[in-house]
Amino acid sequence: MPSLRILQISAECAPFAKTGGLADVSAALSRYLAGAGHDVRLVLPLYQRVKQKAKLRPVEGLQDLKVRLGGREQWFSIWQADAPRSKAPVWFVRAPQYFERESLYTEDADEGQRFALLTHAALLSCQHTGWAPHVVHAHDWHAALAPLLLRTHYAWDRLFKDARSLLSIHNLGYQGWFPATAIDELGLGDERHLLHQDHLQEGRVGFLVTGLLWADMLSTVSATYAKEIQTDEHGVGLQGILRSRADRLKGIVNGIDSDEWDPSSDPRIPHHYALGELDGKRRMKAALLERVGLPPTTTAPVFGIVSRLTMQKGFELVHDAISVLLRREDMRLVVLGSGEERYERFFGWLAQTFPGKVAYLQSYDEELSHWIEAGSDVFLMPSRYEPCGLNQMYSQRAGTVPLVRRTGGLADTVQDWDPAARTGTGFVFERFDAQSFHSALERVFATWRDQDSWRRLQAQGMALDWSWETRIDEYIELYRSLHALRR
Ligand code: ADP
Ligand code: GLC
Repeated sequence: MPSLRILQISAECAPFAKTGGLADVSAALSRYLAGAGHDVRLVLPLYQRVKQKAKLRPVEGLQDLKVRLGGREQWFSIWQADAPRSKAPVWFVRAPQYFERESLYTEDADEGQRFALLTHAALLSCQHTGWAPHVVHAHDWHAALAPLLLRTHYAWDRLFKDARSLLSIHNLGYQGWFPATAIDELGLGDERHLLHQDHLQEGRVGFLVTGLLWADMLSTVSATYAKEIQTDEHGVGLQGILRSRADRLKGIVNGIDSDEWDPSSDPRIPHHYALGELDGKRRMKAALLERVGLPPTTTAPVFGIVSRLTMQKGFELVHDAISVLLRREDMRLVVLGSGEERYERFFGWLAQTFPGKVAYLQSYDEELSHWIEAGSDVFLMPSRYEPCGLNQMYSQRAGTVPLVRRTGGLADTVQDWDPAARTGTGFVFERFDAQSFHSALERVFATWRDQDSWRRLQAQGMALDWSWETRIDEYIELYRSLHALRR
């Protein structure tokens, strides 16, 4: 079958610019698609931190381009970097006036313009190189104007005549809303009649919702989340639109990059191990405890958390349930994460209250995240909602048993341990309340005391294959079905 030209537009890509799983997914997807013989370009902003760290070179013919936004001409250029081990080039949009700021995302008044520019730059870079994409794959609200712009602003250009759009929802909690008065600044003046009219009357315009209305196809990152977002409980106000497009919405669970997250070869950890040879894992546990300043133990379980600290991740439950256990049990808890101040304060307090049992690292630390995955016995993800989640898969691979709530991708990737049948790969609880989380923790301790069962549970998780190799064909099939679609 002929190969496809696929344009990916994303706000994040590992290892260059990452705040969460979107970065891992856009990088791996591009890499594996290119590995399968497709012609892939990934376009993302040239943030300040990328400029400081990455080795970049200007792409010839793509310098000093312009687009009208924010009431004037905005200039940008395209720069390129080689992604590790990937045949797909990563293209960065260099527009210092928009992207060279402290953080990737801002609450600045021109936040919408920043990502409108990303989308225009991605499409203009196709025009200027005469590269006709078969699929324009937009990720999250940041790129969600692409489907509409392909049908309006760029529709005159025959280059895009075969281009079909796919919008992937990685997190419905972030929708990109801006005041309707900013429409001209966002470059959407000519598209006004194609935007959601009720929202305009309410005085707002939404990037994600515009993508949901105009994309040829929609996807999200697990089958369960695809169903959940059509419900009032999880639809975050967009359930009606999602229901109306249900025939165009597909759930494909994320894969993991097994070169990055395999304990037998992971370059970021000092001790390696595999199923049946867990000595290295014991050494990783000791090394982790030493690194974070907790006393060594071979008998007590180590719990790990690596997360953005936001409402999504459900740490209220840890707040309400963990102190009782920390008082009662010999255990360790290692938390790596930053985000909302209330959670940072809570974990700081926990570490102070239980010295020798809890360590809190308030930072973003790629290497330490690998140490925690490998050196812990249990990984905690009590998410309120979770479109897919990657850490529960990294954990299973690493022989670290995940404790998760049954929601979104967590429901699709962790099977609850059944002590009678001795089946399962983790601990899954249903209701979002402290009592349910507490009972799940009690089940962890009960199982931990029976080390024979624990080893079985651990081995069942380690035996699973979550790699992108097993997943990539689903995307290729989706792209092909999209390509065959008539508008
Ligand atoms: P989300 O995208 O909602 O944050 P995921 O589970 O899909 O959740 O992905 C989170 C990714 O971000 C994982 O690769 C995780 O290891 C990483 N991560 C989150 N917080 C940190 C942190 N403080 N330090 C290092 N890596 C982190
Ligand atoms: C989002 C979701 C997370 C998902 C990631 C990658 O950030 O919160 O569940 O794994 O995107 O798709």
